[in-house]
Amino acid sequence: MCGIIAYVGTRPCAQLLIDGLRKLEYRGYDSAGVAVHNGKEITVRRAAGKLSTLQDLVDREPVAGTVGIGHTRWATHGPPSERNAHPHVSGRVAVVHNGIIENHVELKHKLTSLGRVFTSDTDTEIVAHLVDMAMGRGLSLVEAVRDSLRELRGAYAIAVLAKDDPTTIVVAKHASPLVLALADGAVLAASDVPAILAHTREVVFLEDGEIATLTQSGAKLETVSGEAVVREPTTIRWSLVQAERGGYKHFMLKEIHEQPRAIEDTLRGRVQLETGSCIADEIGIAEPEARAIQRVVLLACGTSFHAAMYGRYLIEQLARVPAVVDLASEFRYREPVVAPGDLVIAVSQSGETADTLAALKEAKRQGARVLAVVNVQGSAIARAADGVLYTHAGPEIGVASTKCFTAQLAAMALVSVHIGRARGALSESRAKELLEELVRVPEKMRAALEQDAAVQLISRELVSAQNALFLGRGVSCPVALEGALKLKEISYVHAEGYAGGEMKHGPLALVDRSMPVVCLLPDDPSLEKMLSNVQEVRARDGRVLAIVNDPACATALAQWSITVPKTAPEFSPLVTTIPLQLLSYHVADQRGTDVDQPRNLAKTVTVE
Ligand code: AGP
Repeated sequence: MCGIIAYVGTRPCAQLLIDGLRKLEYRGYDSAGVAVHNGKEITVRRAAGKLSTLQDLVDREPVAGTVGIGHTRWATHGPPSERNAHPHVSGRVAVVHNGIIENHVELKHKLTSLGRVFTSDTDTEIVAHLVDMAMGRGLSLVEAVRDSLRELRGAYAIAVLAKDDPTTIVVAKHASPLVLALADGAVLAASDVPAILAHTREVVFLEDGEIATLTQSGAKLETVSGEAVVREPTTIRWSLVQAERGGYKHFMLKEIHEQPRAIEDTLRGRVQLETGSCIADEIGIAEPEARAIQRVVLLACGTSFHAAMYGRYLIEQLARVPAVVDLASEFRYREPVVAPGDLVIAVSQSGETADTLAALKEAKRQGARVLAVVNVQGSAIARAADGVLYTHAGPEIGVASTKCFTAQLAAMALVSVHIGRARGALSESRAKELLEELVRVPEKMRAALEQDAAVQLISRELVSAQNALFLGRGVSCPVALEGALKLKEISYVHAEGYAGGEMKHGPLALVDRSMPVVCLLPDDPSLEKMLSNVQEVRARDGRVLAIVNDPACATALAQWSITVPKTAPEFSPLVTTIPLQLLSYHVADQRGTDVDQPRNLAKTVTVE
């Protein structure tokens, strides 16, 4: 949601902090700031708007010092503005925070009644006041932070700097992500790995309820209650280049084109063609557990929900076990019934989505076994689950998820084959056929990407559309929903995805010449029925963009068509989703929206 960074070292750190924040901009970007200690006092620079505004300010008014904190914000409490930008200062203390202090109203009343004067609308400022007051009672910085955290309820990743303690920063974490790293004689902390990669690949993930004291001699990690914590670093395989734009105009376009590699990396070492099995030890579901599964419950939000929908189809088709899919934000509040025989699969790119994490915890509380499918090593959802199947898509910077979506589809295929084989529902020969095709999918995705120019041409005719419909059947239904989400979230064009069979139950009333209808027509058992949908649309003067394997099947019917290679019907979504991603990208780019950081959205929704 927001991005924080902290540095304690020997190098001038203002620019280093800003450079780190630039790698976190996707976490929130309506204002930013830094606070740097020069040995005598703390200097703060804050600015509303994009990070470049802060950069200009610091260029104009440089800040000296080798100990500092920084923040890039996505507003939750208080509108985006300079006064609400972090760092927040109270007396001798400066704080940056990612998360929500749930009891901020009562604390603000209490502090105001004690004479504290608030200068912002944020919940974060409360932390600065609490720590300043505690230090005023003679506590050290770390003890003051520890004492203050006992008052807080909610989610936080914080970094705190104090005038009286010029060589120390204290960081703490609960329900918002925070990583630590040692590099070149300095200590860094940040919300996410890309901010660290320029310095090192060895990071330590903090767990909830942990606090760390950063000084030039290193980092002391302990629990808030004071127990020492020893944790091995995680080696991050992502290079810095991966997290950069790599020559594309936008991160999103780069990530669309990275998908074949993301799938190859996700499958790597997990497919054994000789035996038609998936070696995914981390799934941690051996044959006895697989046979004991009574039901699979998939939970996710947004694009990950569409991947979970796909997983539901594939698990039932290949593993022959009942499967249901639910929006995590609905599941967590509807008093769900979960049984010990349920396998819950939580799907999340960031591994930090609050609704998905809360739903996972509710399922665990009721005794279910939980498998997480996440893209970020050591993320909260990964750590809360019983088993984790990591997608290896690398850092996804664009707010609109693309390569992580198709990597999640590949992970769903691995899980479905693994459980199907373990339950005896999928024969070795059939599994071999499927896996041999699955490993060929990345090449077919590369071929689909070669249609980029053709899609761009078509997008020029759709750039003025105000609405759009996306239709698909079977495993293509989640692809239709995902295509609609992509278009609306980056181009701001209203779009809806529908099961093709639903057209006659209402949406057909919307169809006229002004309504482009994107139809998914892979060569699978539902093709004939989908062609009937195309007929229905054409009969109402609708304009159809057909995504096909066989160009002949759409020539007479569709206004436009994009041909992509055929693959096994079970895996067609990994290929057919690519022209839809490219379509939304090119429409948005031509409409001039901020493709990588669409308005009102953030990459990771760590709030409810
Ligand atoms: C995807 O394009 C969106 N940015 C959003 O729907 C996202 O998929 C959703 O917030 C879930 O995020 P997660 O995968 O990190 O849990």
